[in-house]
Amino acid sequence: MSILILGIESSCDETSAAIIQDTKILANIIAGQEVHRNYGGVVPELASRAHQQNIIPVVDQAIKQANIQKNQLDAVAFTRGPGLLGSLLVGTSFAKAFSLAMNIPIIEVDHLKAHILAHFIKKDETQAIPEFPFLCLTVSGGHTQIVRIDDPYTFSTLGQTIDDAAGEAFDKAAKIMGLPYPGGPVIDKLATTGNAEKFSFPEPKVPGLDYSFSGLKTSFLYFIRDALKKDANFIEKEKANLAASIQRTIIEILMKKLNMAVKETGIRNIALAGGVSANSELRKALQKAGNNNSWKVFIPEIEFTTDNAAMIAIAAYYKYLEKDFCSQDVTPYARSSFQKK
Ligand code: KG4
Ligand code: ZN
Repeated sequence: MSILILGIESSCDETSAAIIQDTKILANIIAGQEVHRNYGGVVPELASRAHQQNIIPVVDQAIKQANIQKNQLDAVAFTRGPGLLGSLLVGTSFAKAFSLAMNIPIIEVDHLKAHILAHFIKKDETQAIPEFPFLCLTVSGGHTQIVRIDDPYTFSTLGQTIDDAAGEAFDKAAKIMGLPYPGGPVIDKLATTGNAEKFSFPEPKVPGLDYSFSGLKTSFLYFIRDALKKDANFIEKEKANLAASIQRTIIEILMKKLNMAVKETGIRNIALAGGVSANSELRKALQKAGNNNSWKVFIPEIEFTTDNAAMIAIAAYYKYLEKDFCSQDVTPYARSSFQKK
């Protein structure tokens, strides 16, 4: 007998609902929030309001697209954290109410584990899924981690950022250049026509497998400020080269620690996850490292890189198998216990 789960994601600025039948996705609906564009970042209060408006239509659409009846669902799952508390509350409250109304169990999911488990979503028969144990470089707007995964329930964080996340480095660099939010995809596109070697920025010196991106942001800011004093059109003239150069630096920083993690653990199954894993050059860099070092690499489908509820539903599927349900008094958390510190 197959298991049908409704997954809800509302941790940041994407309201999403997905239906999964075992590991197969029947629907994955995502409503973005244009409202933040003019602010150069996510405005928490506006995000929670938009989630409230979007949640019911998004769930409704997912159920329709999956071509199921809501009384066929075996469980409802939601992102408990980490994320913006006001945003998380919308998904949490919806899941609780839905579970009461339909008399089905609730499953709470950690957003970071879900990004990783997105690799187990079944798209077609030929798709390769990571073999255990594997390492995952999770790079998103809020997190940057190297995680060791031994099975769908056992995750250990080997390294993580001590300040900004890789996605924030993209977004902040874009903001400094006057580009819209989120900056990652804009920089990715601009970089395709730029010279990545034109400018260089210092790499952080952080011990072990941890990352740091705040120094890079500051040196990028000062570099641009000084250049603008000499030429007011500097950004306009150099934007493709700036985008390509900052992107190259971020990718070099990410890949360096990943290489170290492989050497330290001897694990050669390597996956990529999170919003920044949509980056075309990062995907190429991992593929290249895989070819050169005989790693087996697992690069997610673009649709499962940025925040989506399909990843919540697949993570919930594994919890369902263990009957790992939660009660009506569950509350969201802003930070994950899964983070090292
Ligand atoms: O995983 P995600 O959707 O949300 C969080 O959990 O944070 O990640 C969003 C982040 C943003 O910082 C965005 O700029 C970045 O992912 N991003 C990219 C690309 N697409 C999204 N960064 C670089 N290149 C991209 N193509
Ligand atoms: Zn995310």
